[in-house]
Amino acid sequence: MQTVVALSFVAGALALPATAPSQAQPASLNKVTMGKKHVVTRSDGTADVASFYASLNHTLAKWGSPSLPYYAPVASQQAAASAARRMAKRQAYEDLTDQYEGTSEDAAYYGPVVLGAGDGHPQTFQLIFDTGSSDIWVPGADCGIADGCVHPLDPKYDGGGTALGTNTSIEYGSGSTEGANYVDDVTVAGLISSNQTFFAVYSAYGFEEIDADGICGMAFTSIAQDNGTTFFENLIAEGAVDANEFGVYLGRVASGTEDDSELALGGRDSTKYSGDFTTVPVSSETYWQVALDKVTVNGKTGGINTPGQAAIDTGTTTIVAPTTAAKEIMAKIPNSYGFPLEGEILYIFPCNTSASYIPAIEFAGESFQINPLDFSIGAISEEDIEDLALGNQTIVNDLKSIAATSASGLSDYCIAGLIGADLTDIENLYVVGDVFIKNWYSVFSYDASSGSPAVLFAPSIGQDS
Ligand SMILES: *[C@@H]1O[C@H](CO)[C@@H](O)[C@H](O)[C@H]1NC(C)=O
Ligand SMILES: *[C@@H]1O[C@H](CO)[C@@H](O)[C@H](O)[C@H]1NC(C)=O
Ligand SMILES: *[C@@H]1O[C@H](CO)[C@@H](O)[C@H](O)[C@H]1NC(C)=O
Ligand SMILES: *[C@@H]1O[C@H](CO)[C@@H](O)[C@H](O)[C@H]1NC(C)=O
Ligand SMILES: *[C@@H]1O[C@H](CO)[C@@H](O)[C@H](O)[C@H]1NC(C)=O
Ligand SMILES: *[C@@H]1O[C@H](CO)[C@@H](O)[C@H](O)[C@H]1NC(C)=O
Repeated sequence: MQTVVALSFVAGALALPATAPSQAQPASLNKVTMGKKHVVTRSDGTADVASFYASLNHTLAKWGSPSLPYYAPVASQQAAASAARRMAKRQAYEDLTDQYEGTSEDAAYYGPVVLGAGDGHPQTFQLIFDTGSSDIWVPGADCGIADGCVHPLDPKYDGGGTALGTNTSIEYGSGSTEGANYVDDVTVAGLISSNQTFFAVYSAYGFEEIDADGICGMAFTSIAQDNGTTFFENLIAEGAVDANEFGVYLGRVASGTEDDSELALGGRDSTKYSGDFTTVPVSSETYWQVALDKVTVNGKTGGINTPGQAAIDTGTTTIVAPTTAAKEIMAKIPNSYGFPLEGEILYIFPCNTSASYIPAIEFAGESFQINPLDFSIGAISEEDIEDLALGNQTIVNDLKSIAATSASGLSDYCIAGLIGADLTDIENLYVVGDVFIKNWYSVFSYDASSGSPAVLFAPSIGQDS
């Protein structure tokens, strides 16, 4: 069935980062190839409900906190590096082999980050490059399983940098991280931020399902909880990049492009997109937040008027829409059903839904189609009913009666990659995650819109089928 995501797992070995300077790349474009580690779809195309919920829980943990501060827009920072400093820019190309796990989990993209290379104690961590947050954190030396650092084989920061003697604590709706603040040099794809703040976690809750070692926040410094400048804004300030932007390509296992996943620092990779970019100005320099005009389903029947704000978030697997918008959108997809679960609404829809009924999102007057391959998290199998309902008997019964209407039962239905939830104080905030970004090469630029920050989208290469 076309809309069912068929995944194959490759037992992977983590390769050491290898420099390949001879590779033909645009000058000064530094890249990290990001591995796709977690998957929410089983190899037979059915959804892995448990890992889907773990992924969703992580999204809600990250976004769902009323205590997550909302910051007013700040002035554009570090608009341009001097021409003289451009001469000193590094050119390096760092590549990694993708790593897969046979177990089904969430979806996330990560790559290697080296701490402490400059002081002769390099340590490599696998971090999620997260455009929805602004801090770097890694496990600290003292963080054991009982402290929430549940992956005993993860590297632990050796404390070789300068300890600031302060702590950073981030509270989430259903989790938290706390760690000791440090300054050390941080290197990604050969680009060095020599005076980088981050925190070494000594206590974490609610992040058990993250398999990467930690997070490298790529949103704006204004929301950094450790009060330090972000990694990328430091690179700009140090004149380490040619262009004040980074480009993200998220591959897809179903299309065989997972190994092409990449973060380009200081430019965009022209081999990863086609056509022209649409520039969407950033509306608040906090998250990579932009205005969302509307969502359309089957253009012929007209757009759904649900304007709002969207955080373009590489660190979230799905798309989360405000509940009123989600209801409106999903009501336009024939035979879809919503299940309210503890504050969020989960949707299922017929797997054979024609592509024209898969939602598109309008930014800056342009329509961006969500790929049907991404909109479906996978088909439901009969044994998933109890898990899917999270023990709610009303929902179990509803699912059974839906199954009864279809010759093949529930396996004709797929879980939607769009969830309804009201996450923050920001009115009508959509979190637009990997389900969208896989289809649209995304450039996060500090100066693309008349010198102000913008997110730019162009069609991703290799993601059509
Ligand atoms: C989500 O997280 C909360 C708090 O950590 C936990 O109690 C709950 O069981 C989780 N739900 C699912 C479906 O995993
Ligand atoms: C930071 O956290 C550690 C460990 O909990 C604690 O011992 C220390 O007093 C804290 N430091 C500050 C400045 O709060
Ligand atoms: C960051 O600044 C805020 C506001 O001034 C302060 O409350 C907080 O303790 C600071 N955090 C760190 C880690 O320095
Ligand atoms: C390093 O960064 C801190 C704040 O993050 C700043 O106060 C300090 O001046 C910086 N030092 C250098 C040498 O740039
Ligand atoms: C079970 O689900 C139904 C339908 O979504 C909802 O109305 C009800 O509140 C849920 N029950 C509990 C105990 O959460
Ligand atoms: C999807 O499958 C159902 C059941 O076989 C069928 O009635 C319906 O016409 C199909 N829809 C599309 C768009 O193919």
